[in-house]
Amino acid sequence: EAKPLSPLKKVHQDACEFFHQVLLTSKAGERALNYAKERELSEDLLEHFQIGYAPNSDHLLLTFLRGKGYDDTVLAKSGLFSQNESGQLFDRFRDRLMFPLADEVGYIVGFSGRRISNNKELAKYLNSPETEIFNKSKVLFHLKEAKKAVRTEKHLVLYEGYMDVIAAYKAGIKTGIASMGTSLTDDQVYLLKRISRNIIINYDGDEPGQHAIERASHMFETIGGFQVGVVSLPEGLDPDEYVKKYGPERYQDEVKGAITPTDFFLKRLELKYNFSNDREKLAYLDEAIKLIAPLTNPVERDLYVTKLAKKVGVSEDSLKVSLLREGRRLRVAERRKKQYNFEPEEQSKTQ
Ligand code: GTP
Ligand code: MN
Ligand code: MN
Ligand code: MN
Ligand code: MN
Repeated sequence: EAKPLSPLKKVHQDACEFFHQVLLTSKAGERALNYAKERELSEDLLEHFQIGYAPNSDHLLLTFLRGKGYDDTVLAKSGLFSQNESGQLFDRFRDRLMFPLADEVGYIVGFSGRRISNNKELAKYLNSPETEIFNKSKVLFHLKEAKKAVRTEKHLVLYEGYMDVIAAYKAGIKTGIASMGTSLTDDQVYLLKRISRNIIINYDGDEPGQHAIERASHMFETIGGFQVGVVSLPEGLDPDEYVKKYGPERYQDEVKGAITPTDFFLKRLELKYNFSNDREKLAYLDEAIKLIAPLTNPVERDLYVTKLAKKVGVSEDSLKVSLLREGRRLRVAERRKKQYNFEPEEQSKTQ
């Protein structure tokens, strides 16, 4: 038998329906609906993602929810309102396109609102604060729906932004998910692990996005048990911009062309060196070997040796010698670490 919905979840469901109706059927929602059209959000997409609009008012949601019988104590805990010194409540989200954020089961636990005005002084996205039901480091946008679709698509695709998940969905990729604008967390990786071991990372093509791919790949590697693919889009485009520019088919091809994290790292490394200079070429090889040596699958290692030898114009045999050396160095370091019970300093948890 289903448990009755907690008041905090219920209030989010009601708020979601309110925002959605305001967007689709009200005069106040017209500007937002135009914005949605400019961003190529069809009605189907607005429905599937239950997108809404928080009007430019400090009390319309408050009045609506009070009218539904909600107590101010529940509303104050919901994260949907800000409060002044005397305890008065005000709508937190104003003049924003609203993306509901749901938990794994599909209950809405928070919102992210995108600014639609050109006032650059306002944050582009505003999220719900942490509440009893919303912890942004444990939520993944679109997870419930992606979980359904993963049975047929066989992998999850990880994005940076909500609009990217939506663009992918439009392009036929129904297993897109995104973290809440913050970097991926361990909790999210463990959550994903229960749903699929096959992950494709498709962050933005700009430098911050590419750097974040490195970080995310390392996390999947460290937690372990994943098959990871990386899609790296050209021209600094994000997936939403790519679909808009090149269309769904080409975007699907990009995703099908996902490469291994090692290939991705090698490509990133290549950019840093000038191959017409032998000194730089050697420095590149040095770094490349450090990337390949820790790989435990010998077939995979061989594959990169062949590629690397071709790319740089050296023999596979000499590369293998260097790899063996690096492997030996790694094992010695490992043994030392065990012997002296030395642990590298824990990484700072404040970021
Ligand atoms: P659009 O400009 O609407 O296409 O968004 P985007 O997803 O391309 O944004 P961007 O690549 O800049 O950022 C990726 C994600 O980071 C967004 O989807 C948000 O989740 C988050 N983000 C971006 N800007 C902000 C911000 O100002 N505040 C917060 N809290 N999150 C943000
Ligand atoms: Mn509807
Ligand atoms: Mn970005
Ligand atoms: Mn982006
Ligand atoms: Mn974008």
